[in-house]
Amino acid sequence: MEKPFSPSCERNQQVILEVLKTVVDPSDKNLLEIGSGTGQHAVFMAPKFMHLIWHTSDLIQNHDGIFMWMNESSANNIQKPIEYQAGKTQFPKVNVDIVYTANTLHIMSWENVQQLIIQLGESLLEGNQIFIYGPFKYGGKFTSESNANFDVWLKQQNYFSGIRDFESVVSLMLKAGMSLVSDIEMPANNRILHFVKNK
Ligand SMILES: C[S@@+](CC[C@H](N)C(=O)[O-])C[C@H]1O[C@@H](n2cnc3c(N)ncnc32)[C@H](O)[C@@H]1O
Repeated sequence: MEKPFSPSCERNQQVILEVLKTVVDPSDKNLLEIGSGTGQHAVFMAPKFMHLIWHTSDLIQNHDGIFMWMNESSANNIQKPIEYQAGKTQFPKVNVDIVYTANTLHIMSWENVQQLIIQLGESLLEGNQIFIYGPFKYGGKFTSESNANFDVWLKQQNYFSGIRDFESVVSLMLKAGMSLVSDIEMPANNRILHFVKNK
């Protein structure tokens, strides 16, 4: 098997890292990444947060690729992938301080997004932080023509994929006991939605 490679990870990892650096606290111990994909974000970012254990997770079919990236890394704070598929498996049993997920909400079905958010609400503890990176629609509108085209392309790959409505995601998160801290503008018409788990 050839080592998987995601060009978009190369493009966005530095700007995401810059945001995470401003919010990760020295007392945070465990970060859970949902949908690690190739594992590139873990391998790039984990060495910048040596006080954290970076837990990777994804569908089982992506684990070999994540291992390939991990095995080439000298970082010793990356944990081997946990099998996790929202809507199918239990939420990973990790005592997390931070949940991070990039480019996943528009890939999984809306039902799976709903199930993921319910599981976040059930599993997280007060003060835990959640970071969701990716494109969103606002007031039902795409923020750029490129995002509108991307949405068409996504649906051609999988009918259930598509760019999600910011308002719908925030409303589900609120219902599940999480509050929006900030909505951060990122390059290439992406956002980072930062939430915190309430009591
Ligand atoms: C576009 S990739 C993003 C990977 C990586 N986070 C990145 O930014 O490059 C989407 C990822 O979401 C994962 N995924 C799809 N459906 C999922 C689900 N129901 N639960 C968890 N992850 C899922 C895929 O396996 C894939 O790794």
